[in-house]
Amino acid sequence: MTETTATAERPAKPHLPDAQIVTSVQHWTDRLFSFRVTRPASLRFRSGEFVMIGLMGENGKPLLRAYSIASPAWDDELEFYSIKVPEGPLTSKLQHIQPGDEIILRPKPVGTLVHDALLPGKRLWLLATGTGFAPFASLLREPETWDKYDQVIMMHTCREKAELEYGRQLVESLSEDPLLSELFGEAIRDKLRYYPTTTREESPLMGRVTDNLTSGKVFADLGLPQMNPQEDRAMVCGSLAFNVDVKTILEQFGLEEGANSDPKHFVVEKAFVGDGI
Ligand SMILES: Cc1cc2nc3c(=O)[nH]c(=O)nc-3n(C[C@H](O)[C@H](O)[C@H](O)COP(=O)(O)OP(=O)(O)OC[C@H]3O[C@@H](n4cnc5c(N)ncnc54)[C@H](O)[C@@H]3O)c2cc1C
Ligand SMILES: NC(=O)c1ccc[n+]([C@@H]2O[C@H](COP(=O)([O-])OP(=O)(O)OC[C@H]3O[C@@H](n4cnc5c(N)ncnc54)[C@H](OP(=O)(O)O)[C@@H]3O)[C@@H](O)[C@H]2O)c1
Repeated sequence: MTETTATAERPAKPHLPDAQIVTSVQHWTDRLFSFRVTRPASLRFRSGEFVMIGLMGENGKPLLRAYSIASPAWDDELEFYSIKVPEGPLTSKLQHIQPGDEIILRPKPVGTLVHDALLPGKRLWLLATGTGFAPFASLLREPETWDKYDQVIMMHTCREKAELEYGRQLVESLSEDPLLSELFGEAIRDKLRYYPTTTREESPLMGRVTDNLTSGKVFADLGLPQMNPQEDRAMVCGSLAFNVDVKTILEQFGLEEGANSDPKHFVVEKAFVGDGI
């Protein structure tokens, strides 16, 4: 359930270095929120990349953290999907931003969760926990994703149902996306397989991504063959433990990890640094 939504009519003129103006904020749970900001005219990025964003610290120096851009490369604004860490240096403050406020955004996008880092394939698996959904919010709205693959499978796992809501609404909105509809019509609906699961609260689909892959449940539920390096490509974004465990499983299926400079079958990026809050 959405707690609050706020939208700015018209951004004021920024005055911080690398400042962008917050245009809307939406709180999803007491731990999760999303927001949109103005986009620097010169910023070019590939869907799935991340940038450094932040606020001015009390010491007068920028307090910056890595954030996946959740909006696609063609969007006029930039969207971010964020955790609220109660004692977190940045997010304890960032969670209070309002439309019209300024944030700092260093316009140097980087990252491995990009189409260029994968060899062509038939199916693309997007595997996320928690805020690891953010880069996939960008890639799901990216036309190249639907152009390149026959099927796109979005597996997202959180502890509780409410934590899936940002992703669920985004996935639902894809069939009404004007650009995707114009380019692909009904094909998006046919290509997309959405597999949201919870691990600590009862919901229609349960279980960790790792367990659903190793047991074969996700393949059986979706009527797909087990992943193989000839047909399947994957992008992975979650905690370090999640990434390590998924990487092992993908390698057992015969997939090899790629990079921007050496495209292969799957790519991995951390959703955050550390073991958890
Ligand atoms: C490549 C990359 C991309 C990132 N993209 C995003 C993003 O799109 N959205 C986002 O919310 N965060 C993202 N992060 C994490 C982000 O950089 C910050 O760590 C986060 O905003 C918290 O900042 P903080 O200063 O409040 O706390 P920090 O001091 O940075 O973190 C405190 C502790 O909180 C936990 N933590 C931090 N971030 C998360 C998280 N996202 N989910 C669960 N626990 C967390 C960790 O245990 C960490 O040690 C990304 C990190 C990396 C490395
Ligand atoms: N989510 C909350 O309600 C909540 C509330 C307060 C504080 N926190 C703290 O916030 C931190 C981050 O929480 P989070 O829920 O965003 O992230 P998280 O602990 O990484 O869990 C997110 C999802 O990933 C699953 N997962 C974790 N490790 C995995 C692995 N190695 N392989 C496969 N799946 C894995 C979890 O399943 P499992 O449930 O099986 O672990 C959960 O469904 C944690 O340290 C937590 O203590 C969370």
